[in-house]
Amino acid sequence: MHSNFDLFADTEQPHRSEQIGEQSWVLRGFALSRIEQLLPALESVIERAPLRHMMTPGGFSMSVATSSCGALGWITDRSGYRYSAEDPISHQPWPQMPEVFRELAQAAAKQGGFSDFIPDSCLINRYVPGAKMSLHQDKDEHSYAAPIVSLSLGLPAMFLFGGFARSDKSQRISLLHGDMVIWGGVDRLRYHGILPIKYGRHPQLGEQRFNLTFRTAG
Ligand code: SIN
Ligand code: FE2
Repeated sequence: MHSNFDLFADTEQPHRSEQIGEQSWVLRGFALSRIEQLLPALESVIERAPLRHMMTPGGFSMSVATSSCGALGWITDRSGYRYSAEDPISHQPWPQMPEVFRELAQAAAKQGGFSDFIPDSCLINRYVPGAKMSLHQDKDEHSYAAPIVSLSLGLPAMFLFGGFARSDKSQRISLLHGDMVIWGGVDRLRYHGILPIKYGRHPQLGEQRFNLTFRTAG
């Protein structure tokens, strides 16, 4: 794993970036300078499209509670995983992606070498202690040309970053409030997941973790 410090003109703070794959990076604390704008924007999205536990095609309720914003939202139910332009509960379009979300995702993607990232979907997952995300690939998007850009908020998590088969060995990467991960290009279809969240209380977000993943889905 490579580690280095970069100075970013747009955030006026040094960030530690760790390369975790040929085209994959962890940007430590990258979102912290925008946190006071990000949290109210997140709250407002969730007010309009409340978090809910979706059902997997196999009939299990997911341990994370999910919402979305942007033109497309990722959903799952008994008929499968897919993107939808409307919230299946309200039958309304998903809330617009807040400008602060889009700007942050684009700035992070740029640091990872993806300078023309245009996210049309932001999946919001809320984890309470014990919630987890099993190893999976993000592969419901129309094209894999764009990277996945992820933002962690609240309680810490252990992120598993694997290979191209579920059984490949995974790196274990601890993600903290404000950290971002980018994976794309040759790494776009790597398996990844989250170990069960440990009990704890985050000073700003309490007993929960949010993960936002930005994608170009359509
Ligand atoms: C995901 O793969 O959708 C979640 C990753 C995370 O929670 O950090
Ligand atoms: Fe994922």
